[in-house]
Amino acid sequence: MPSSSVIKAIIPAAGLGTRFLPATKASPKEMLPLVDKPLIQYVVEEAVAAGIREIIIITGRGKRAIEDHFDVSFELEENLRDNGKKVLLKEIQAISDLADFCYVRQRHARGLGHAVLCARHLIGNEPFAVLLGDDILDAPVPALRQMIEVYDRFRCPVVGVQPVPKSEVHRYGVIKAEPVESDLYRIEDLVEKPLPEKAPSNLAVIGRYILTPEIFDALDKTPPGKNGEIQLTDALRILARQKTMYGKRLQGTRYDAGDKLGFLKATVEFGLKRPDLGKPFRQYLKSLKL
Ligand code: G1P
Repeated sequence: MPSSSVIKAIIPAAGLGTRFLPATKASPKEMLPLVDKPLIQYVVEEAVAAGIREIIIITGRGKRAIEDHFDVSFELEENLRDNGKKVLLKEIQAISDLADFCYVRQRHARGLGHAVLCARHLIGNEPFAVLLGDDILDAPVPALRQMIEVYDRFRCPVVGVQPVPKSEVHRYGVIKAEPVESDLYRIEDLVEKPLPEKAPSNLAVIGRYILTPEIFDALDKTPPGKNGEIQLTDALRILARQKTMYGKRLQGTRYDAGDKLGFLKATVEFGLKRPDLGKPFRQYLKSLKL
């Protein structure tokens, strides 16, 4: 595991999951499984692979399953031990050893910016990462690691970006930026969910950020924006005027797993990659007369 200058990460997980109803009526969307692993575990594993040691999850009502998932499951572990299921036991135990977890409740759904602000007292005066659970990144070098490498060079906030078709920019935060080297941009401005004709580029913010503590003062000053919510993008916009900020074009495939079609695509591709399931699953897919 690499040693890292960024050791804390915030994972906002208080959203209502309205894009995935009815599955998310009584279950957290973060617990939807890609093959057999909940979405949020992929995100935690990416953070840990990038050197993160402390994970702060912003939760809300109805999100208890997330806490249970990253806790020790005494009865389950005893049962697996008694039945000699050693491999599964190790896999289950490893989940609660991934990092130090701590949970903050966001009492009102006031948006992503507000969710990040809820963890202010746990961050102190150090850089930290924010990872959004809807964005699953399949990359040879973990996406967050790619960004920490940039942070280590410049000690400035870094936002993960990828190009998207112009017709889709209205679903994302979009940057206005100057290229400084390959895959690296200096951010001049950001706009949350612009109309295609008003978008400053087609470089969309995908859910990975390395932030510095100044963001909290900016969030404090940020009025409600799109959808009446306090937007992280709007606070970054304030900060971009005061401080150098970079956009790192992330290598790897990104899935919007919070969207039904994106989730299906991710399920198929992760299923095909699994050593134990890939072969029969591929045969099955080929047998479908598409
Ligand atoms: C959030 C951010 C947006 C970003 C997106 C990435 O939007 O507000 O700037 O581009 O995540 O997935 P949401 O998808 O929560 O509406």
